[in-house]
Order: sequence, then structure tokens, then C-alpha cells
Amino acid sequence: MEVTLQYLAEWSTHTTSSPLYSHFAGVIAGDEALLRVINRIEHRPPPNVLLAGVHYLLMRNPDHPLAGFYPSLSERPRPVEEVDEVFTGFVLEHEEELVALGRERHTQTNEARRCTALLPAIWAGEHQSFHLVDIGTSAGLNLALDRYHYRRDEIEWGPESPVRLHAALRGAEPAPRTIEVLSRTGLDLHPVDTGDPEDRAWLEALVWPEASERRRRLRNAVEIAAGLTIELVAGNALETLPRVLDGLPAGEPAVVMNSFAFNQLSPEQRTGVEEIVHGGRARRPVQRVWLEFSGLGGEGAELRTDPGARWVTLGRAHHHGEWLELYARP
Ligand SMILES: C[S@@+](CC[C@H](N)C(=O)[O-])C[C@H]1O[C@@H](n2cnc3c(N)ncnc32)[C@H](O)[C@@H]1O
Repeated sequence: MEVTLQYLAEWSTHTTSSPLYSHFAGVIAGDEALLRVINRIEHRPPPNVLLAGVHYLLMRNPDHPLAGFYPSLSERPRPVEEVDEVFTGFVLEHEEELVALGRERHTQTNEARRCTALLPAIWAGEHQSFHLVDIGTSAGLNLALDRYHYRRDEIEWGPESPVRLHAALRGAEPAPRTIEVLSRTGLDLHPVDTGDPEDRAWLEALVWPEASERRRRLRNAVEIAAGLTIELVAGNALETLPRVLDGLPAGEPAVVMNSFAFNQLSPEQRTGVEEIVHGGRARRPVQRVWLEFSGLGGEGAELRTDPGARWVTLGRAHHHGEWLELYARP
């Protein structure tokens, strides 16, 4: 789909909460040369990939005048009204690098705060010790969900951790219980390696420049994930999941989860995943956990679980874990 003035206006209204990026969307929309560049960005959505590319290049070159407008790169960012020419000049000077990044890199935002919803869904199951498999894992940060600290009023759970997660709760309270993660496996078309400085930088570049708390959380979560044994398996989950499930010790339970990834799968592929899980249950109990936009509108994403027999909708959650609404105490 071509990126037009209309597309950018909608993107700015519905997709970004960054004042700087909303401004950039307007600058791109009004400039033929910038529209040409954004339409050369291969991966979707082009504004996210292009602006993450600009952020990524600036993180390496923080003395460039454009960096002075970024809250992530400058302590006292300059007023956005003065940025237009500097931004346009930067994008045109770095056009080929940005197009190359748009061919190599993807929008793979990995938000550890989503664990404030994923963990209560696991608590709703019955397995204390289990192998954890994450479909569409990006950097695998959600596979460290037992290494983060959770707090909500009187409910506290988890070890002391530099990643302290808090979601505003609506509705019923979650029911914490002890869990033990026996192994952690993340499946992704393009896994992000927390041990690779370039991969880490790209993950950070994807975070909006104003989102300082998210950036801090990301850095801490990346450190935790990098210190754990996480097996990242590259490839289409339809091909890798059967092998991964078969490779786990027979009889030991598994939890297979997905969050904000299945919008990238066709309905047939989604059905395919459930058929693989169904087949895997011949060798072990498998709990499914699902956190995805339902496509039916409404606020937040749908949180559900299938402990083994049927799906149960547990509630809804904000896409970055800011709030969690449980329909009933699981
Ligand atoms: C937006 S990221 C979500 C990351 C993480 N689950 C989270 O909630 O923070 C979606 C990920 O799904 C991956 N993905 C999309 N289709 C896939 C497929 N067929 N098999 C494996 N991974 C896939 C993408 O590469 C991307 O890294």
C-alpha cells in the first residue's frame, strides 16, 4: 500500500503516541522527496520502520543536530517546530542506509510489561513446573516472566528484580501461585538476539523517543533475558513448533503462549498452530495462553487460555500492559 498524506494522517492519529513522530508524519506528508523515501521502505508499517531507522542511526551519532530534538538522546530537547529542515536533510542524506535498514529490520517491539497479563493467564492453568514456549517471541523478553517483580496494592509477586511491573487492575484480582519454568523457547521468523549489540540497539530504536520508562524497562529486561538460557528458534512457527514440542521431555507439561504476533498469521496459519498443539497433547499436557487484538474492536487485547480442553476468555489487557481487566478471579 502506498504511503500517502491520508495514510500518514491516520498513522499519526491512531498509531503513534509520540508528539515528535506525529510531527515527522506531517513533515513527510508535505514533502515529495520524503514521500519517495518512505515508499522505498520495504517492511511494514513503513513509518515505524523508517523512524526507527532514523532513531537507530542517531543513537550511533548522538552529536548530529537532529539528535538534539529527541527526548531519548538529549536532556533538553529543542522545540519540535524547529526540526523540519534538519529532519528532512538527515533522511535525504541517509536515504540508502535507511532503505537498507527497512529491508533488513522489522517492527518487533518486545514489551515485558505484557507479562502483567500473560502471567495471570498462566496462573489460571494448573501446572506448577512447565516448559515455556513463546510464538512470535521477538527477543524472548516475555519468556523471563518469572524473573520480573509484579506489584499491585497488596499483591506482590516474583523475585527482587530491576524490572518491576505494575498494571492498573480493573475487575477481578489475579490469583498468584508458585511456578517453575523448566525451559524457555522462543519461536520467531527473525529472532532478536539480546547478546548482539546491533539487535539490542534496534529494539531500543523501536521505542518512541519520549517513552523513557519503556526504554529503561527494555534495557533491564534485555539484561535479564541475556542472562537466562533461552533457546531462540528461527523460522515459521508452523514449521518449528512441532519439532520444539516433540523435543521436550515426554510427559512434562508445556505452556505455549503468543502475544501481539498472531495478527501477522493468516486464519489458516492460526488454525494450524492449534492443530499442532492438539497433536502435541498426545505426549504431554499443553496449556495455551493467548493475548491478541480480537479484531472485534473494543479496548485492549483479548486474554484467553485453554488449559487443555477448551478456550476460556479471561479478560482484556492494554497493548503495552498499562492495565489488565480480568472478568473473574481465574
Ligand atoms: C510485535 S512482535 C511481538 C513480540 C512479543 N510477543 C511481545 O508481545 O512483546 C511479533 C513477532 O511475531 C513474529 N512472527 C510473525 N509471524 C510469525 C510466524 N509465522 N512464525 C514465527 N514468528 C512470527 C515477528 O517476527 C515478530 O517478531
